[in-house]
Amino acid sequence: MKILITGTAGFIGSHLANKLIARGDEIVGLDSINDYYDIRVKYGRLERSGILQDKIHYNKMIQSSKFSNYKFIQLNLEDKANLEALFTAEKFDKVINLAAQAGVRYSLTNPDAYIDANIVGFLNILECCRHHNIKHLTYASSSSVYGLNEAQPFSTKDNVDHPMSLYAASKKSNELMAHTYSHLFKIPTTGLRFFTVYGPWGRPDMALFLFTKAIFEDKPIDVFNNGNMQRDFTYIDDIVEGITRVNDNPPKENPNWDPNSDDASVSSAPYKIYNIGNNNPVKLMDFITALENKIGKTAEKKFLPLQAGDVPSTYADVSDLIRDLDYKPETSIQEGIDQFVDWYKEFFEIKD
Ligand SMILES: NC(=O)c1ccc[n+]([C@@H]2O[C@H](COP(=O)([O-])OP(=O)(O)OC[C@H]3O[C@@H](n4cnc5c(N)ncnc54)[C@H](O)[C@@H]3O)[C@@H](O)[C@H]2O)c1
Repeated sequence: MKILITGTAGFIGSHLANKLIARGDEIVGLDSINDYYDIRVKYGRLERSGILQDKIHYNKMIQSSKFSNYKFIQLNLEDKANLEALFTAEKFDKVINLAAQAGVRYSLTNPDAYIDANIVGFLNILECCRHHNIKHLTYASSSSVYGLNEAQPFSTKDNVDHPMSLYAASKKSNELMAHTYSHLFKIPTTGLRFFTVYGPWGRPDMALFLFTKAIFEDKPIDVFNNGNMQRDFTYIDDIVEGITRVNDNPPKENPNWDPNSDDASVSSAPYKIYNIGNNNPVKLMDFITALENKIGKTAEKKFLPLQAGDVPSTYADVSDLIRDLDYKPETSIQEGIDQFVDWYKEFFEIKD
């Protein structure tokens, strides 16, 4: 299998690339390496996959890493001509699109970045899949599509027409765009709604990283909605296992589909949506306590109101994942936080 993974300088994409390289798939990684957050972390992730910073030049494929089955190219999804040339040259079997402008809060101040990467970029991926006979496109959606929904756990059968941020709207748009291409051009597509992913090499803009940094630096942590939040935190290895199983099992056409059914996650087209979440929401204050236990320090907490665009609670229904792929995330919060803090201390050379 030759697979294009986009976003391989990113958190989830780098872990996924490492797993699929290890199992022997032929992988091409792509990333723009933008500076949305500390690029030292991005170059560190690439180096872990055998790609050295001084070899990287825009639109120049690095042909050899320390892994013979991994190549990397720095490219923007919006760069349609070069993306098209890449598909022509490499003849991929499958595509896993994880490159995107992530982050809910940033979308309130930088909306254009979301339209460029997540809408224009995603359209370019779809067009390339259409013209290059791609056998399965797996792509990142987000739990944020549940927006104003209150019924929990969040089910992929639910209506998700009320996003609370442009980030969420861009992810919901990806699902709609994918359905159109699955319907018109019979491209099997699967959208994955990830729930707050955390773990080693995690994102510097997300709570676990921000809290850990502040605690080590003896600075206060910002606790939104006065701590009255809960998240279905999902460990990175569990997400990667879920993506791998999904990638290996493309959806099929379903001529018997009933258009009056109340399940929005399937259709007559080869199209599917899954939640990948821990199915075990954790209160933010318990999450912070687990982090304090690991670091061995109590955080100074600055209690603040709910931020615009944020939802107070997430909880994934993963029954489809269990039914179709015999899979459910299992990693406990304390185990996952311990792994993250150990990585953080090593990467930033923090001594005990
Ligand atoms: N981490 C989470 O908790 C979470 C939750 C829900 C959904 N997601 C989604 O999962 C995917 C991966 O998330 P992540 O946490 O690894 O984010 P990340 O920001 O670490 O990785 C995304 C990567 O995409 C690259 N990128 C951005 N715009 C690009 C463009 N136009 N062209 C090429 N590359 C571009 C970035 O440089 C980055 O390295 C994203 O689509 C994100 O929206 C993540």
